[in-house]
Amino acid sequence: MRLPIHSSTENQTLQALNLRRLRAQDASAFKDIRLEGLRLHPVAFGASFAEEQSQALERFADRLENGHVMAAVADDAIAGVVGLACSRAEKTRHIGLIWGLYVRPSWRRSGVARRLLETVISDAMHMHPQDWLPDLRSLRICVEANNRAAIELYEALGFSAWAVEKQALRVGDHFHDEIHMRLDFVPQNR
Ligand SMILES: CC(C)(COP(=O)(O)OP(=O)(O)OC[C@H]1O[C@@H](n2cnc3c(N)ncnc32)[C@H](O)[C@@H]1OP(=O)(O)O)[C@@H](O)C(=O)NCCC(=O)NCCS
Repeated sequence: MRLPIHSSTENQTLQALNLRRLRAQDASAFKDIRLEGLRLHPVAFGASFAEEQSQALERFADRLENGHVMAAVADDAIAGVVGLACSRAEKTRHIGLIWGLYVRPSWRRSGVARRLLETVISDAMHMHPQDWLPDLRSLRICVEANNRAAIELYEALGFSAWAVEKQALRVGDHFHDEIHMRLDFVPQNR
């Protein structure tokens, strides 16, 4: 099933949302919401709109099939997305990197991002090491230092800051600091 690009409803409620992993057939809808986020919030992401806009759809399909991207979906439209990247390398496969958290403006402040992150955290804590996820013990997030909305959300979910990277991003003529945050955990019931 291909997902349509925009939500047609207003006053959406959280109950209407389903969370599911995106797969190759969702590449077009994923590219659309990904580019929307990069275009509207250039400072919030390490990737740039110009770079990803020029990427072929197959590249997005590949990212979905070989990575782990969760979407909050309502009426077959995507309200928000978040990615989890894991290393296969022996010495770093205990670390997962959360990336690309984005919620469409009409869905904001209704708990979509919190639900997406809670799901990814739970997946990371409970997934058996033989599944697609490695033996995770820690999740990491980078957030632009002035992004209060995201920082408050991450802190509320238990992440804490462990480093500040000065001038981590350059957007146009402006440099931006990034805060590195982490959530360490003991794997549950594997
Ligand atoms: C940051 C973002 C993902 C939050 O999504 P959301 O679905 O609106 O967030 P939620 O409704 O789940 O909010 C959860 C908590 O986050 C914090 N929060 C969210 N938006 C906030 C805002 N505008 N101001 C302050 N705190 C905010 C609050 O603590 C909130 O809890 P509360 O509603 O009980 O007060 C969304 O604003 C967004 O997509 N921003 C642009 C992209 C971005 O910055 N991504 C993060 C990259 S690191």
